[in-house]
Amino acid sequence: MKLEINYSKMFLSEKGLTKADLASAKERIDAAAEYVKKLRSGFILPHKEPVTFFNLPYQTTVVSDIIKTANKIAAECDNFVVLGIGGSALGNIAVQNALNHPYYNLLSKKQRKGKPRLFILDNVDPVIIDKLNDVIDLKKTVFNVITKSGSTAETMSQFLLFRDKLIRKLGRNKYASHIIATTDIRKGVLRKIADEEGYKTFIVPDGVGGRFSVMSAVGLLSAAVTGINIRKLLDGARDMDIELKSSDNIEKNHALRGAALLYLMEQKFKRTITVMMPYANSLYSVADWFRQLWAESLGKNITLDGEKASVGLTPVKALGATDQHSQVQLYSEGPDDKVFIFIRVGKFGSTLKIPKAFSDLDDLGYLGGHTFNELLDAEEKATEAAIAKNNKPSYTINMPKVDAYNLGQLLYLLEVQTAYMGGLYNINAFDQPGVEQGKKFAYGLMGRKGFEHMVEEYRRITGE
Ligand code: PA5
Repeated sequence: MKLEINYSKMFLSEKGLTKADLASAKERIDAAAEYVKKLRSGFILPHKEPVTFFNLPYQTTVVSDIIKTANKIAAECDNFVVLGIGGSALGNIAVQNALNHPYYNLLSKKQRKGKPRLFILDNVDPVIIDKLNDVIDLKKTVFNVITKSGSTAETMSQFLLFRDKLIRKLGRNKYASHIIATTDIRKGVLRKIADEEGYKTFIVPDGVGGRFSVMSAVGLLSAAVTGINIRKLLDGARDMDIELKSSDNIEKNHALRGAALLYLMEQKFKRTITVMMPYANSLYSVADWFRQLWAESLGKNITLDGEKASVGLTPVKALGATDQHSQVQLYSEGPDDKVFIFIRVGKFGSTLKIPKAFSDLDDLGYLGGHTFNELLDAEEKATEAAIAKNNKPSYTINMPKVDAYNLGQLLYLLEVQTAYMGGLYNINAFDQPGVEQGKKFAYGLMGRKGFEHMVEEYRRITGE
């Protein structure tokens, strides 16, 4: 079963693209295809690291280690806690919410098939961190601290807190087996500590940036711990990879086609907002994951030729049908600045009938006998039509069902599409200097040695 994508509503008769638009952008599209081809063959962008997420679907050894470790954790523990932020958490959340029971942590251990509960702390809000202590027993908990740089303040502060708690509770001899570090193979302070204190570690592979790391140990360990079939997830990604690299023809290569159409919508109509709207609660966190992928990869102020630029499409997440009653008024009749990506699911994990009742009341009786599945599908079609009627473009990704294989295809498709966007805009889609800048200010404000100059700069900019 494959994803199918319907682009017809990108070619609306009014305010839509035309075949001529595609033809006139041929040179740019070819350049984008070349950009990805070069990346695949090891070309090094200005941030001096090859881009290697293309290899992740083909990993084997590390996958066996992840599954073995996950089974051990499941046998010994009740809770698995991920400490990470940005690309070191969003993929984990997306995979978990897509593939596991929507009330997973509330299920009994038996209902969870003996697997631990999963908590992902991706913020330093003191309340969510502190209150976790009310629901976990440290003796039955493993912490997976994930940070590629090994130094992100949000993640490392949480690490310090839980390491300290573990030492107090379990003693210096035993606590280390409750921490797994996922980080760079050589660099960063977490690598140093993990090696010195003897934690089990997994590697964020060289050349895999945070937002492209979901198919590495970053995203796979928490998935495997909770019973998700990570081999199937990778199978989906691998099959998508095979398909995408087999052709640079936009009729056949969906990642290139989606990217080219979104690029042209921005170039021709100034549609700078990309709204991703899945019609399935399970995929809402995929839209959240996509938000980071799209924003950090495309928001750049310099081209690869060193010219000043102001590039970026603003990602927005919405949930169907819920946000029909919150956002769709704006989407239908508001400014012509958005393109919509709908995600529609063929077969849901549950089929639920609406009971027949009140058949004498026309305003209500029509619902009985239908399923909730039919209702949600009709809502999706209705929104597509409503916004198309107002000449707002969209395309729809049809997912046969939400399972590990299809999710692997979807995530990988969106990653490669993002890479093509980098080529279309002639930017480095794989660095994040703006994020690093913020990190440096935070280091300075928190008193990290070597970052004193950032406090000076902070004062100069803010006048404080
Ligand atoms: O995509 C990225 O590279 C970033 O968003 C990082 O994932 C985020 O800043 C966390 O960084 P790290 O994994 O180094 O802690």
